[in-house]
Amino acid sequence: MDGHADEHFIPVARLAQLDERGRAVVRVGEEWVALVRVDGRLHAVQQACPHRGGPLSEGDQDGCLLYCPLHAWAFDVRTGDSPTHPGARVRIYAVRVIGDEIQVAASGRLPAP
Ligand code: FES
Repeated sequence: MDGHADEHFIPVARLAQLDERGRAVVRVGEEWVALVRVDGRLHAVQQACPHRGGPLSEGDQDGCLLYCPLHAWAFDVRTGDSPTHPGARVRIYAVRVIGDEIQVAASGRLPAP
């Protein structure tokens, strides 16, 4: 547990399904969500960039910053905030791993504007 005991988690993937960068794109309800591994820990953010829908799972990574592959807006996968474009934000989801099963909170949340 990581402090999200009150959230409803749903299984989305197995650890073996992550690619060599520790990423995957999974479905959570109505939304596509990118799983991104940073320093051994998994984070989950909405897959579609809020600028023009670029696939964030395909972006370059610098620590906790994920850069959209289309126009390089950066998002912090821990908070959903953008240090390069203040005010831009992505929905983030709590993640937990049970055995080899990755589970994501059914409802994500946006950082405060
Ligand atoms: S679509 Fe992501 S920065 Fe433009």
